[in-house]
Amino acid sequence: MENEIKASKILDINDSLKQFRKEFINNTNEIYLDGNSLGKLPYKSKLKIQKVIENEWGQNLIRSWNDHWLEMIKRISLKLEKLFNASNHEITIGESTSVYLYQILNSLLQSEKFKPHFISDNLNFPSDLYIIDGIIKTTNNSKKTILKYESDTEANIKLLKKKIKSDPGIICLSLVSYKSSWLYPMKELNEWALKNDSIIVWDLSHAAGVVNIDFKYSKTLIAVGCTYKFLNGGPGSPAYLYVNKSLIKELENPINGWFGHLNPFSFSKKFISSNGIQKFSNGTPSIISSVPIECGVDMVLKAGIKNIEAKSKRQSEYLKDLIIKYLIPLDFKIESPLNPQNRGSHISISHKESWRICKSLQEGPLKIIPDFRPPKYIRLGISPLYISYEDLIKTIIKIADIVIKKEYLKFSVNQPTVT
Ligand SMILES: Cc1ncc(COP(=O)(O)O)c(C=O)c1O
Repeated sequence: MENEIKASKILDINDSLKQFRKEFINNTNEIYLDGNSLGKLPYKSKLKIQKVIENEWGQNLIRSWNDHWLEMIKRISLKLEKLFNASNHEITIGESTSVYLYQILNSLLQSEKFKPHFISDNLNFPSDLYIIDGIIKTTNNSKKTILKYESDTEANIKLLKKKIKSDPGIICLSLVSYKSSWLYPMKELNEWALKNDSIIVWDLSHAAGVVNIDFKYSKTLIAVGCTYKFLNGGPGSPAYLYVNKSLIKELENPINGWFGHLNPFSFSKKFISSNGIQKFSNGTPSIISSVPIECGVDMVLKAGIKNIEAKSKRQSEYLKDLIIKYLIPLDFKIESPLNPQNRGSHISISHKESWRICKSLQEGPLKIIPDFRPPKYIRLGISPLYISYEDLIKTIIKIADIVIKKEYLKFSVNQPTVT
């Protein structure tokens, strides 16, 4: 193991993104592998939030809407458009991913451009599936197909395509699956959907900030996603909605809130929808929660998404090899795709004692924070902006130690609410 640690240190020295780690608040003696759930706090965000609270809210009060805040929301949208290679005025921010998904799926249904048939699969995030269910309950002619693949961890693309062809409609998929990190072939599926009178609404929550997503190249028409994972926007930071220009005019927001009005401050009696992407805004944007999104996206743009993706692939391959060498002999199983081209930026492993191993990792002089998804998945998230190779080898050493010494026996099998 000494040699492995030495080798990891050399990889870190040669890492071209290593300078970004010090931009984050890092706890000593702690390795944080949960950036795929909630990203770390950048120093700049902390300072910027303080400034907004003390000066913009504390001193400037209502004047800050015009002086700073409305402009900031537009600026963040522009930066996200740059990150995803969208055209200007195709992205808005403000709601949660779940609310945007509800709005846009409803809106597609009302447009009658596609058959009222929702297609998703068992790899999708449960909230997305709940939302589809909810919409079906409140409309009388829509139906759904939730494909159940042979496995809980890999999509069957052939089966998915077959379904789209035989019974087209509105498809909702998570580009990177939350459990296994399975990564869908975005361009191939968009083209298939287009050819078969269908549309895909992509949920990018687990992909944005680590996967190089190019809306123009991949022919993406609609996407939503959160900003608190690899974009490091902070707990509950607002999500984004992308609608391709070709569709904005044709779709209506089912929620007629004043921020979606053509001129909200006219206070007109009648709702007149905005013609642009603003039509999907509902109410007053959450300013303090939006501030750190800008710092997070700035950092991703500065590092370059292609560089981040390349490091994510290198580190996850490195981690995968360590798992094969040290953890498979201890009865672990890799639950993520082995081919890096089919994988996002976390690796899921399982063991019959997954939950208690997760608990043990968080104790002791070196704390390791992964997360756990029932019934058995330990997710090891790789945030290339702050994870080092040394973090990864130390994680493997600790996991192996916990299992060899049966340290997990000290912990209860009961699981709390937030894991
Ligand atoms: C893939 C995916 N979609 C949707 C959500 C829910 O996002 P929100 O809480 O912004 O509605 C999450 C949350 O973790 C997620 O991982």
